[in-house]
Amino acid sequence: MSEAFEPNNILVTGGCGFIGSNFVRWVVREHPGVHVTVLDKLTYAGNPANIAGLPADRVELVVGDICDAALVDRLVASTDAVVHYAAESHNDNSIADPEPFVRTNVHGTFTLIEACRKHGVRYHHISTDEVYGDLALDDRARFTEESPYRPSSPYSSTKAASDMLVRAWVRTYGIAATISNCSNNYGPYQHVEKFIPRQITNILCGMRPVLYGDGRNVRDWIHVDDHSSAVWEILTRGRIGETYLIGADGERSNIDVLRAILRAMGLPEDDFDWVRDRPGHDRRYAIDPMKLRRELGWRPAHADFDAGLVQTIQWYRDHESWWRPAKEATEARYREQGQ
Ligand code: NAD
Ligand code: TYD
Repeated sequence: MSEAFEPNNILVTGGCGFIGSNFVRWVVREHPGVHVTVLDKLTYAGNPANIAGLPADRVELVVGDICDAALVDRLVASTDAVVHYAAESHNDNSIADPEPFVRTNVHGTFTLIEACRKHGVRYHHISTDEVYGDLALDDRARFTEESPYRPSSPYSSTKAASDMLVRAWVRTYGIAATISNCSNNYGPYQHVEKFIPRQITNILCGMRPVLYGDGRNVRDWIHVDDHSSAVWEILTRGRIGETYLIGADGERSNIDVLRAILRAMGLPEDDFDWVRDRPGHDRRYAIDPMKLRRELGWRPAHADFDAGLVQTIQWYRDHESWWRPAKEATEARYREQGQ
């Protein structure tokens, strides 16, 4: 295997969001020699509290937009690598108003890879398994790096478009890029609009959890720290130009996850409401992570989903002051959408 790439300075976009902030915390913990600059616009989904308390000589926050070419150029010029998490990330929001998704996910990625091209900087692109569309419930197939792109929603189609830009910039301009497509993440600091935190915080607020459609849709869950360790392996030891799928064999139906949350919180398993389904709702996602395991020897550390879920519930119990300010506006938005 070729020598590992060892960055001293990395630029993490979207480092005040759920997965980006967990990655920043993970890097500070696991790689003491690395300095992190976070570029984040602090949209409704970005919260500086997510990286508060980290040493000031290790982490710097720059508040700004990844579509701001002058700012991006300046930051990219003085870093060893870019890890690009920033995105509009929620499917339901993309259905209600797709414009910010096109802007941030497509134009923002374009702005970053142009700067990496100009300055010859290593680039890692964070994407999602949703670019591959969905699988049937009665199918045993899983997504691989060779699966065709078949995105269903405004969110996943803009993520797919950004992946395509990166692939073209590798082939045409030879930028030093890798791409990872990960499955659904769970863990601390996830916004209350997403499935697992929404149900936990509904219960903590005395409201009933809400399930879309028939609840049989399947997602492939991975703990956010396992996503971080996989991204680090790909950034430092992955082959340039390659795509790696990240997953932890965590397939569960939504209704099974919800029942596990209800049980863990001491409530009857049927104590929830059915609501209107999401238009175009993807049926099943499932990742075959063999390439990542075979080539880079990566393994998830949090293989027990039920244990991870219990820890996550406890985190939301202990951090009400973190999630409470966003809860009311989020539920008001869902009410407008009939969900
Ligand atoms: P998030 O919505 O929690 O965080 C997104 C962050 O990006 C926020 O801090 C926000 O302020 C910032 N941001 C948005 N627009 C910006 C802009 N124009 N300029 C600068 N910053 C901007 O999202 P997340 O769930 O942490 O997802 C992070 C990445 O991981 C996304 O690229 C997403 O597609 C990908 N991903 C997410 C999942 C998942 O389960 N959530 C799974 C696979 C891949
Ligand atoms: P979500 O967290 O939005 O992630 P994604 O759409 O990217 O997979 O939703 C996960 C699953 O949970 C998805 O099948 C939609 C469903 N869902 C509900 O049933 N109820 C809810 O309140 C939410 C937010 C999602």
